[in-house]
Amino acid sequence: MEDCTYVIFGATGNLSKVKLMPALYRLDAAGRLSPGTRIVGFGRRDWDDGAWRAKVCEWLAVRPTDPDVLARFCARLFFFNGDLNDAQVFPGLRDYLLGDEFSANLIFYMAIRPADFGPVSRQLGETGLNREDEGWRRLVIEKPFGYDLESAESLNQRLSRDFRESQIFRIDHYLGKGTVQNVLVFRFANLMLEPLWNRNFIDHVQITHSESLGVEGRAGYYDGAGALRDMLQSHLLQLLTLVAMEPPASLDAESLRDEKVKVLRSIRPIPQSAVHAHAFRAQYGAGSVNGKKVTGYLEEEQVPEHSVTETYAALKLFIDNWRWRNVPFYLRTGKRMKKGNSMVAIRFKHPPQQLFRETRIEQLKPNWILMNLQPSECIRMEMQVKQNGLEMRAETTRLDASQCGVNLEQLDAYEALLLDVIDGDHSLFLRYDEVSWAWKVVDPILKVWSMERDFIHTYASGSWGPTEADRLFVQEDQVWRNTLEDEV
Ligand code: BG6
Repeated sequence: MEDCTYVIFGATGNLSKVKLMPALYRLDAAGRLSPGTRIVGFGRRDWDDGAWRAKVCEWLAVRPTDPDVLARFCARLFFFNGDLNDAQVFPGLRDYLLGDEFSANLIFYMAIRPADFGPVSRQLGETGLNREDEGWRRLVIEKPFGYDLESAESLNQRLSRDFRESQIFRIDHYLGKGTVQNVLVFRFANLMLEPLWNRNFIDHVQITHSESLGVEGRAGYYDGAGALRDMLQSHLLQLLTLVAMEPPASLDAESLRDEKVKVLRSIRPIPQSAVHAHAFRAQYGAGSVNGKKVTGYLEEEQVPEHSVTETYAALKLFIDNWRWRNVPFYLRTGKRMKKGNSMVAIRFKHPPQQLFRETRIEQLKPNWILMNLQPSECIRMEMQVKQNGLEMRAETTRLDASQCGVNLEQLDAYEALLLDVIDGDHSLFLRYDEVSWAWKVVDPILKVWSMERDFIHTYASGSWGPTEADRLFVQEDQVWRNTLEDEV
């Protein structure tokens, strides 16, 4: 464990309150922060260290805390008052950080508006805070990384003026989730799956992230982004790479990311003329979720009157390589759906011979592997067995390959990620080519949707999304799997 200082730009904001400070506190409680680790909040508020410590204690008080750990944690907190947009503050910040109080290892965490990523990185470069003459210097960038391919490219160029790729940590918090990492363990630690994991046996793959929550006061950001950018281009495409990748040469960051990039590069490009055959978007209308009436997206605060921003997006992709050619991958996400759930569902083909055609088993159901990521953690196989009794009838039985249930001990994704930055491990962070290939996949869709400003389908809040999205399926017997419980 090395000493270091986390410098949080945007320290008084929501991400810091809800994710970063609680995660750093829990790392401290778990004994994972070295004694010389400090946390410097950078913000415009006219606060001193005492006021900042009091605020963080207030944020942490929503969950039980240990008084000894809290005291130790608070002593690590410092506040630097300044305005990001004022170039004059950066020399002062440099002198402050290079003082005796702090380690020479510095992490700059950009919990700020994406528009400020470039300018802040430039200022860090101007003042020499990027230079690794003594300690190491790392830059953590939150999503969204760009708005489309072009803006991602230009942001990357700006950052790389002052920081090398090895200094940059691009966060996709989904990769910090233990359950997402479990996809790799399940695939590569179990020999029996590998021979089946390809186009010869798999009919199609579904990756779904549904939320019962709405836009929750984030319309200022969300209305300009939409579900395709917010969830699909980032988190769900990342999940797809883990499901579809070849075994990496080793688990080091570069081998892993090389394989993920190969998957993204193999995704069949969607020409603009075929966007409607491959993608579907919709927006939530009024409805009721968990028995509570809720308004539609257009009635949410800060949403422009005629917004056609999608809160639901579904996509059909093909990966043109030996393993996956012509196997559809359906990716889907939506807000204000019936339940919050994330799941990878893999449907197998039917056996080649319909042996049971002459019996009561008219239509055998196919096998499925369901990997549920949240809220409950579960890996399940669905298989057919004979029903009890004299008749030859089949029923579905479920084999749970891991403990199924809500894991209350589940670590928050940010704990793992914040620790990896200290350790300098890039495995769970995005390399720029991953980001850029992911933008290439969705860019044609974004372009077409941005031209169609007059109409968007709607779905009732509390439903499983628009039924029109079924048109993406390539076969009639394909249906959405929403949760572990639903029957097909
Ligand atoms: C974020 C999106 O990146 O991920 C949100 O901006 C979304 O809109 C969230 O709700 C989902 O992540 P989690 O960890 O809550 O499943």
